[in-house]
Amino acid sequence: DPITTPDIISSCKEADSGIKDVENAVRTRKCCPPNISKTIKPFVFPNEKTVRVRWPAHNGSNDQVAKYKQAMRAMRDLPDDHPHSFIQQAKIHCAYCNGGYTQVDSGFPDIDIQIHNSWLFFPYHRWYLYFYERILGKLINDPTFALPFWNWDNPSGMTIPAIFQDGNDELNPLFDIYRDARHLPPQIVDLDYGAGERDTTNEIQIACNLSTVYRDLVRNGGDTKSFFGGEYVAGDAPVANGATSVGSVEAGCHIAIHRWVGDSTQANSEDMGNLYSSGYDPLFYAHHSNVDRMWTLWKDLGIQGHTEPTDPDWLNASYVFYDENEDLVRVYNKDCININKLKYKYYEESKSVFPWRKSRP
Ligand code: C2O
Repeated sequence: DPITTPDIISSCKEADSGIKDVENAVRTRKCCPPNISKTIKPFVFPNEKTVRVRWPAHNGSNDQVAKYKQAMRAMRDLPDDHPHSFIQQAKIHCAYCNGGYTQVDSGFPDIDIQIHNSWLFFPYHRWYLYFYERILGKLINDPTFALPFWNWDNPSGMTIPAIFQDGNDELNPLFDIYRDARHLPPQIVDLDYGAGERDTTNEIQIACNLSTVYRDLVRNGGDTKSFFGGEYVAGDAPVANGATSVGSVEAGCHIAIHRWVGDSTQANSEDMGNLYSSGYDPLFYAHHSNVDRMWTLWKDLGIQGHTEPTDPDWLNASYVFYDENEDLVRVYNKDCININKLKYKYYEESKSVFPWRKSRP
């Protein structure tokens, strides 16, 4: 059977897994959503005509950047217990990743749900961002509002985008204090970051990064399972980080950037360096927007074998979110495969020449 998220209001518990230094954690483990609505509704596809075009964070227009900051400010200004508040949006990740929910609806009340390290990774995060984007748009009354993506696969996007680092906490709603001080702009990201600093020139780092993208999308991601990650169904214990069934992008560029951005001087490498705290950094959503974009690029490569899972246990796995109308809705993997139906897409400078396309390691 597929993984089925239970009622997120009545069956949520304190996040009790995956946080190594609980005593010194800078964020709370109380990650359950507020109770404003009890019935879970079925998801309805958006019927608007406009398509939201997600834009590269290093290259947004003044208007895109201004709207994004305005929406993020509005989100941060909501009361903490509002389901659209920035804090609540951050807690969603914590609840789904650190043991907030169990598989009680499938008959396994003692087994936690973990949406990482398996084939749930891509679809879960696609849905998470889908609602996050629509909530932000609603806060500024803009049905065309679209998220930026951190274009780390492009040499011109390989630093933390300036819009996230300008100013400070008070001035910039995209700023986060818990980032590794060594990795702020103009430092070039290391898409293969483990623990150590790679002491190299920018030119070499950029070349390595392009090879790493090629590795994750082509060499290591040649078929459905290696790209999406392994099967994870009702009754399975949460898959451990480092397991062989983690998908190529998730285990590769994705996790490297989490580690690289998180402040290594904090007890749990908050914010980006730990799942329970990642959502507190606005950069998280731009990073995941690009991770989601990797799924679309992988498909667009048109290589044989680049297809989504067809197993019913993948198609019918489901999650529950508060939508932009503050309704609780249940969404299924099968309904997020085609982003045209979700009314968003990615701005691509030049689809035929991805900068990493010739970077076979
Ligand atoms: Cu849900 Cu990048 O982690």
